[in-house]
Amino acid sequence: MAAEKWVYMVTAQTPTNIAVIKYWGKRDEVRILPVNDSISVTLDPDHLCTVTTVAVSPAFDRDRMWLNGKEISLSGSRYQNCLREIRSRGGDVEDKEKGVKIEKKDWERLNLHIASHNNFPTAAGLASSAAGFACLVFSLAKLMNVEEDPSQLSAIARQGSGSACRSLFGGFVKWKMGSKDDGSDSVAVQLADEKHWDDLVIIIAVVSSRQKETSSTSGMRESVETSLLLQHRAKEVVPKRIVQMEEAIKNRDFASFTQLSCTDSNQFHAVCLDTSPPIFYMNDTSHRIISLVEKWNRSEGTPQVAYTFDAGPNAVLIARNRKVAVQLLQGLLYYFPPKSDTDMKSYVVGDNSILKEAG
Ligand code: DP6
Repeated sequence: MAAEKWVYMVTAQTPTNIAVIKYWGKRDEVRILPVNDSISVTLDPDHLCTVTTVAVSPAFDRDRMWLNGKEISLSGSRYQNCLREIRSRGGDVEDKEKGVKIEKKDWERLNLHIASHNNFPTAAGLASSAAGFACLVFSLAKLMNVEEDPSQLSAIARQGSGSACRSLFGGFVKWKMGSKDDGSDSVAVQLADEKHWDDLVIIIAVVSSRQKETSSTSGMRESVETSLLLQHRAKEVVPKRIVQMEEAIKNRDFASFTQLSCTDSNQFHAVCLDTSPPIFYMNDTSHRIISLVEKWNRSEGTPQVAYTFDAGPNAVLIARNRKVAVQLLQGLLYYFPPKSDTDMKSYVVGDNSILKEAG
């Protein structure tokens, strides 16, 4: 490797994903291995995404990272595990134009600078860690010329944040819980790409952009320790739902998709209530949105909109097509006008979409 001062960098953009069959509970806290499979839809990267630039240079004296412009510590085990795993897989890199020549063995001693930006509120229940760790792993893999496929990369992103493993693919994605103790088979796979069911439109009602009180990580730990409903859900309910959801996605069966998404979201929040002490992620506005959608679906005779809520009050609404999405947005704006002093902040609209590299 030449001793001169060069900086070699890569930028990538990764969308977030929303689970329609939820991951809630770990069987291994360190490796981040879940108690059940989950299925998600990847969002349009132009609206909800993380953009990360990773740079390497002999001039850098230590690994450093900035999140939304503020330096954060990389000392936590989640970052350390991701960095270690990806470094150990680094390959040779040569860029003659820039005078860069890095050999495989150099990755262990070269330091990195990482700058990451979310274009949505961090920790407001919009799965920022999912896009964040997926983008970190994806951009580092590009930088270091790692030749793993997206599923293998997903097993690394998983060690940053469980839901991150599903953001390595566009479209519909399943995170297989796996059965091995080392987690090597706990990976994400794509069920269908973003073109398979492109009628769907996703509207996120940002009910609150405040940081949630109970993080997903600690909430699910408490549920594993105290909720009997979680045990029942993981063993008896989710395995059947996963099969049904895969079938619904394959057949673009919106009625089944809606029934499964809504009941799974409601059961996840029931598990939160069954946790001791109980965890409340949804608020009154979330409940009123559920009632509105349920009434509308019943009055139409056939489901028009599916809803799902993650670990926060924001509603993720999936409309069966663009026409329905327009009607839905009109209804939401009428009943829940976004204002700074009310419980409704804004709406984000996007299609399900694909992971794309920005540079
Ligand atoms: C409710 O992936 O944020 O969004 O693995 O501890 O980082 P950690 O948790 P995280 O949990 C996401 C929980 C969820 C459901 C889901 O995305 O499947």
